[in-house]
Amino acid sequence: MSVRAEFDAWAADGRDRGMEERHWHTAKHALARMPVEPGDTVLDLGCGSGYAGRALRDTKDAGRVYGLDGAPAMVRNAQAYTEDPNVGYVVGDFDALPFADDSVDHVWSMEAFYYARDPVHTLEEVERILRPGGTFYCAVNYYEENVHSHEWQERIDVEMTRWSKSEYREAFREASLAVAEQDSIPDREIDIPPAESFPTDDWDSREEMFERYRTHGTLLTVGVSR
Ligand SMILES: C[S@@+](CC[C@H](N)C(=O)[O-])C[C@H]1O[C@@H](n2cnc3c(N)ncnc32)[C@H](O)[C@@H]1O
Repeated sequence: MSVRAEFDAWAADGRDRGMEERHWHTAKHALARMPVEPGDTVLDLGCGSGYAGRALRDTKDAGRVYGLDGAPAMVRNAQAYTEDPNVGYVVGDFDALPFADDSVDHVWSMEAFYYARDPVHTLEEVERILRPGGTFYCAVNYYEENVHSHEWQERIDVEMTRWSKSEYREAFREASLAVAEQDSIPDREIDIPPAESFPTDDWDSREEMFERYRTHGTLLTVGVSR
């Protein structure tokens, strides 16, 4: 199935807002670390409901915020959630970013990058559009060390790339992005019931659920354009 067909369906039944609620637990901590200055131009890759760009406008006074998504229904929903004239959402693909060279100060992406058809090429595209010194904050929950995420590929008909932490760092460098930081951000907001409540519908044991959310959480890799 195409990204468009898969995620248009998610947008149509409200899963764009559902993702926002879950991802916000860790995304907000990563967004707070972004060195966005008033007036900066920021791009959100695979923006879904578009919450991240709106948060950067509200909290850091970003000047112009774009959200790019391959699913037109996601883009329509994201646009409907704001009346801010400095926030705009566009339909596009990670393969060819519709931005000029050196035109964006910072790029953000949450739980979307690994859907890229050719992830190293997408990193090269990010590096191309970033101004020197600009950053790429790439946040993912689906990655090699997070063993509890591996089964997600079986539930979705779009190919996902599962890199390890070191593979992320190597790929960033291959695309000429210096790796400034790599970190796991725990999700401390998801409620983990007491041991006697397990097994649940989703988890065999409390230890596994704890490892998924509190130990692995979200992997953040930060690249800097040279
Ligand atoms: C799991 S959702 C995450 C949405 C949002 N970033 C969040 O944190 O809730 C992934 C999003 O990436 C978009 N996407 C996936 N592959 C894409 C591609 N190759 N080009 C553009 N958008 C893509 C999907 O349409 C979807 O909205």
